[in-house]
Amino acid sequence: MTSSADAQRDLIAYLDFHVESGVDLALDEAPHDRFREADTPAPTLRRSAPVREAQVDAPRLEQPEAPRRELPPRGDPPPAPEKAPARTYGQSASAKPEDAAIDARARAKDVGTLEELEALMATFDACPLKFTAKNLVFADGNPAAKLMFIGEAPGADEDRIGKPFMGRSGQLLDRMMAAIGLDRTKAYVANVVPWRPPGNREPTIQELAVCRPFLERQIELADPDIIVCLGSPATKAITGTKDGILKARGRFYPYAMPHRTVRALATLHPAYLLRQPMQKRLAWRDFRLLRTALDGKA
Ligand code: URA
Repeated sequence: MTSSADAQRDLIAYLDFHVESGVDLALDEAPHDRFREADTPAPTLRRSAPVREAQVDAPRLEQPEAPRRELPPRGDPPPAPEKAPARTYGQSASAKPEDAAIDARARAKDVGTLEELEALMATFDACPLKFTAKNLVFADGNPAAKLMFIGEAPGADEDRIGKPFMGRSGQLLDRMMAAIGLDRTKAYVANVVPWRPPGNREPTIQELAVCRPFLERQIELADPDIIVCLGSPATKAITGTKDGILKARGRFYPYAMPHRTVRALATLHPAYLLRQPMQKRLAWRDFRLLRTALDGKA
């Protein structure tokens, strides 16, 4: 016999499985058992053309009857279709991503420290990613460092731990840093989006837009001299380029903060390098360029 605690644990595991697989939205009030539906006979096709003599004698395929529907008693109005609940954007009072982004910008402007910004983001409810993520993944490393790495979005390990670049990509990033004499005491690390997108999908344009004011404020408060954009979404968000990452990488771009403009270097994402190890030679070039810049020689 299962206890209600077991049942609750199973239910949570079942929901977790769906979120892990990228299912973050209920489309209907009640679930549909599509496997069972597959066993239900398809409705009979009606012939519109008259049946010709020759066909009458031909062996007929059994046509299963369509399932009967209960008809309402005569005179009763047909039941109104069930109305789906209106979709809200997260739980915030502001219904649209544009409003959420405006709200985020107004609130981010008011915070004066990175700790306040993290506390603000932890209570910000207008990004739907927050509701499928386990944790806010704000930052790791040294906020006083001259160098800031910006990735895309947390994965499963980061979501569980609450810090960026903790999984295999993070281990590779650490090795790449070590190759030019850096570690996380000498760099600050964050992401374009601080909540894990379900199923590790890319963040949507709306999610990027809602989180952008927080990222801008985070950069401004950390005030690095050099930003390293890891991969395409970070490069596009920081530099504004439309070029693909293989074209955009290996170059410095200006990044304007309200009080000063600094340099942003685009390079390949460690997750990409794990899939395409041959491309590490390009990342190595970029990291050597970064070392030269940190030494004030580029
Ligand atoms: N990939 C990212 O872009 N960021 C992380 O924090 C982890 C993996």
